[in-house]
Amino acid sequence: MEFSITSGNPAKQGGLCLVVGVFEDQQLSAAAQQVDKASDGWLSRWLERGDLSGKSGQAQVLYDVPGHRSERVVVIGCGKAEELDARRYRQIISNTARTLLDIRIEQATVYLTTLAVKDRDEIWNVRQAAEGIMAASYQFVQCKSQSDTPPPALTGLTLGVSRRKALSGAEQAAAQARAIGLGVALARDLGNLPGNLCTPRYLATEAETLAKQYDKIKTTVLDEDALTELGAGALLSVGRGSREPTRMMVMEYRNGSKKQAPIVLIGKGITFDTGGISIKPAAAMDEMKFDMCGAASVFGTLKACAELKLPLNVVGIVAAAENMPDGLATKPGDIITSLSGQTIEVLNTDAEGRLVMCDALTYSERFEPAVVIDIATLTGACIIALGNHPHGVFSNTDDLAKELLDAGKQSFDRGWPLPLWDDYQEALDSNFADFANVGGREGGAITAACFLARFAKKLRWAHLDIAGTAWLTGKQKGATGRPVPLLTQYLINQTPTD
Ligand code: BES
Ligand code: MN
Ligand code: ZN
Repeated sequence: MEFSITSGNPAKQGGLCLVVGVFEDQQLSAAAQQVDKASDGWLSRWLERGDLSGKSGQAQVLYDVPGHRSERVVVIGCGKAEELDARRYRQIISNTARTLLDIRIEQATVYLTTLAVKDRDEIWNVRQAAEGIMAASYQFVQCKSQSDTPPPALTGLTLGVSRRKALSGAEQAAAQARAIGLGVALARDLGNLPGNLCTPRYLATEAETLAKQYDKIKTTVLDEDALTELGAGALLSVGRGSREPTRMMVMEYRNGSKKQAPIVLIGKGITFDTGGISIKPAAAMDEMKFDMCGAASVFGTLKACAELKLPLNVVGIVAAAENMPDGLATKPGDIITSLSGQTIEVLNTDAEGRLVMCDALTYSERFEPAVVIDIATLTGACIIALGNHPHGVFSNTDDLAKELLDAGKQSFDRGWPLPLWDDYQEALDSNFADFANVGGREGGAITAACFLARFAKKLRWAHLDIAGTAWLTGKQKGATGRPVPLLTQYLINQTPTD
């Protein structure tokens, strides 16, 4: 998708399609007023006929609007002007995207970006519109022998701003949206690929591909021999029941000053989670192919970061394994030794995410990082606690939690804080090892995070539990690419300003 920004009068825009908004009770937005004026009141006379009231979700394509160079004018219902907040704006954009994709035009000039959105500005509107339309154009057709959906026609998008002064900010916002859109699409592709194709070794080749595409990225792949040599017993214990070998990938993006400590992102890359010997029930088990979406978000964020050439040092670590039951698989009661030296009693082999993540956390210490953020589809309990809208956000450093929550609000890829109090730690007590890998059912997302905290004592660390947000279920089943927008926003906010 090619983006451009314009600040001209919408009525003077040529091209295939002009998009403007109308509020409830047929109130014209500023851009629609300009269309109306140029058409000598034609638009308001059309509205009076009542085909479109302006309710959110409505859309109409109009041809031959007088006084216009654009072939079509698309009118989008925006609801009540005073209710136009960030959430509603995103709905309006997705409705617009659907309409533009349906009519299969190649180019559109969208002026919804000049709408007044509560607590947001035009620059934000541009970023969200570009990101939203890119996301709506996403298709996953790699595994269809014949696709009945042709690729999207829309390839050119011009976004309007009301003042020339906003042009350069809006251009920057569009560039950010493009990079984030590419990162989100990569994360969705990897997430949607089935477990028989997207294996730990496949993720390793993906890490190598990133290093080939961007010269600022260097990739190292640790195989099982290297991991054994290292002593990553927790990570290795998870892959023991699988024919697919375990891998750890380290992707170093270096584009900051030498002395700048890196930001480390660690992704859970369970390419399929059967639960292992503590096997899961059959219902919806197919969705456990998405158990590598944390890893996918690390790939996507590094891609966005490299596209934007952010002047930072960022290290992506992916801990990849397949969790299967077989004769060699780890059993309940087995005791393993983690890379940190701490011993773990594996009471439930389905709590495998924390086992791969803990060794990656210990490994991250060698980079002397400024910050470590891990991203994992860690617990069903997080979905019970928060539902499907926010990521669960945990941190041992309040400032870091706030920065992540703020980046989530800015990008509208939101997180919500959960406590990491030591009060929860005793749930992990074990009679046989240093501690167990599960607590009880209560507060399951928190006890999982508390387990990880035991490996992050030397780090400024945060943990995102994305179990509820990484994919959609039902008819829309598929990876969301979250939290690539949040993470990329966080990195953008960390770029030095001098
Ligand atoms: N990958 C799952 C978490 C999950 C489950 C994410 C469902 C999204 C949807 C994780 O490995 C897991 O199985 N967690 C267990 C932990 C339990 C055994 C303490 C869970 O949440 O049930
Ligand atoms: Mn599991
Ligand atoms: Zn899992």
